[in-house]
Amino acid sequence: MVKICCIGAGYVGGPTMAVIALKCPSVEVVVVDISVPRINAWNSDHLPIYEPGLDEVVQQCRGRNLFFSTNVEKHVSEADIIFVSVNTPTKTRGLGAGKAADLTYWESAARMIADVAKSDKIVVEKSTVPVKTAEAIEKILTHNSKGINYQILSNPEFLAEGTAIQDLLNPDRVLIGGRETPDGQKAIKALKDVYAQWVPEERIITTNLWSAELSKLAANAFLAQRISSATGADVSEVSYAIGKDSRIGPKFLNASVGFGGSCFQKDILNLVYICDEVACYWKQVIKVNDYQKSRFVNRVVSSMFNTVSGKKIAIFGFAFKKDTGDTRETPAIDVCKGLLGDKASLSIYDPQVTEDQIQRDLSMGKFDWDHPIHLQPVSPTSIKQVSVVWDPYQAARDAHGLCILTEWDEFKRLDYEKIYESMRKPAFVFDGRNVVDAEKLRELGFIVYSIGKPL
Ligand code: NAD
Ligand code: UGA
Repeated sequence: MVKICCIGAGYVGGPTMAVIALKCPSVEVVVVDISVPRINAWNSDHLPIYEPGLDEVVQQCRGRNLFFSTNVEKHVSEADIIFVSVNTPTKTRGLGAGKAADLTYWESAARMIADVAKSDKIVVEKSTVPVKTAEAIEKILTHNSKGINYQILSNPEFLAEGTAIQDLLNPDRVLIGGRETPDGQKAIKALKDVYAQWVPEERIITTNLWSAELSKLAANAFLAQRISSATGADVSEVSYAIGKDSRIGPKFLNASVGFGGSCFQKDILNLVYICDEVACYWKQVIKVNDYQKSRFVNRVVSSMFNTVSGKKIAIFGFAFKKDTGDTRETPAIDVCKGLLGDKASLSIYDPQVTEDQIQRDLSMGKFDWDHPIHLQPVSPTSIKQVSVVWDPYQAARDAHGLCILTEWDEFKRLDYEKIYESMRKPAFVFDGRNVVDAEKLRELGFIVYSIGKPL
């Protein structure tokens, strides 16, 4: 039986390993993490992340050939293939601070592998890392090898949160980079055999290590700049019209209050750091995105008679996109901070994000969020102008304005007549995701602003 161990039980490690276990019943998969609460949650009925379809997959495999453990060293030493899916945040201090990837967690995982390994290992880079990280990791491992043979592979992950299980079950492609030596090719084949259990052969691309690493950063940068570039008259008309060109394609052109999530900004900054000559272009992508968020706040404040001081504003949605509880780099943080800066009082509703998380996010500094959850303060002093409720109607009651910051489907189906009745007048709606029918809401009496649409 092939034994796989994955270091890092996060948004990538958890779902990816669950799907491998589901599709490869003859492989034993153990996901390990240094965070005890995270592993406990993976072993409970309340998984640590929300992802449609994930519960079912975990239920089918957990205890059969899928296990979650904090006994990192034992499972690493027993595995044939070790995935490393730890976080790779942006550095907050030292050389390259604010741009370069912080590989502390990766390096400590690699050193631990070198310490405990007693047999040959294939080490798979799953985290998104700067180009040539595999080479650095190879050095750490081989210089501490005690005669053990290590093969490093780069197998970047392309799943998007909210659709992780679908993306994993039916990926556009699986990318495996490795050394061009016979041993390197053998390792590539071993990993390819795992994916080939359910992914058609023509979708499994094999390359050298650098190509695989660079393809991941470039893919994220391209996706992010597509959204940033999407601006214009009526943005949905423009993106429909240009998306009809088969060379451009229709996906990923929806303008919004700004892109968020743990990866786009981090990976672009990473690219900025490694490629000086084209850095200006990619920096602008992030700048345009930051501008989107501040423009949204300006729109709210200026439309509400240039002040939101003391006014209640309802916030619908806090996660960085629908169908996830993840709030890392969510545009909602910048928008809420901007409104709080103007002394608004906020009532926030998101179906998947807890009060604790929101309070933590609003009190945290830039780039601090991607350090392991167990190192973050558990209960920061809460911001008193922020209340978090589990009912959108309660959030909207007596509010002067309503900001939609995540495109949850349920926001399309709310009773806006009831909401209008309960709000202060004039009642404003600022739709940061273009989810509501602006015309219908105007008929009810709302003043509605949407993204990239004429008033
Ligand atoms: P995450 O923070 O959710 O998970 C990382 C986990 O690694 C944490 O639980 C942490 O406790 C654990 N960890 C850190 N150091 C460890 C160590 N030495 N030993 C054991 N466990 C350790 O992060 P994530 O969102 O799963 O992202 C992981 C990587 O995958 C990142 O490099 C990210 O860029 C990349 N990625 C993420 C996504 C996504 O959608 N989230 C998609 C593709 C790629
Ligand atoms: C993104 C990529 O889509 C994945 O392929 C990649 O694996 C992942 O980053 C990663 O490396 O972490 P993710 O960040 O989970 O996935 O989610 P996306 O669907 O890409 O959305 C990112 C942000 O862009 C969200 O805030 C979303 O609302 C926004 N967005 C997306 C738009 O504003 N408009 C769009 O048309 C699409």
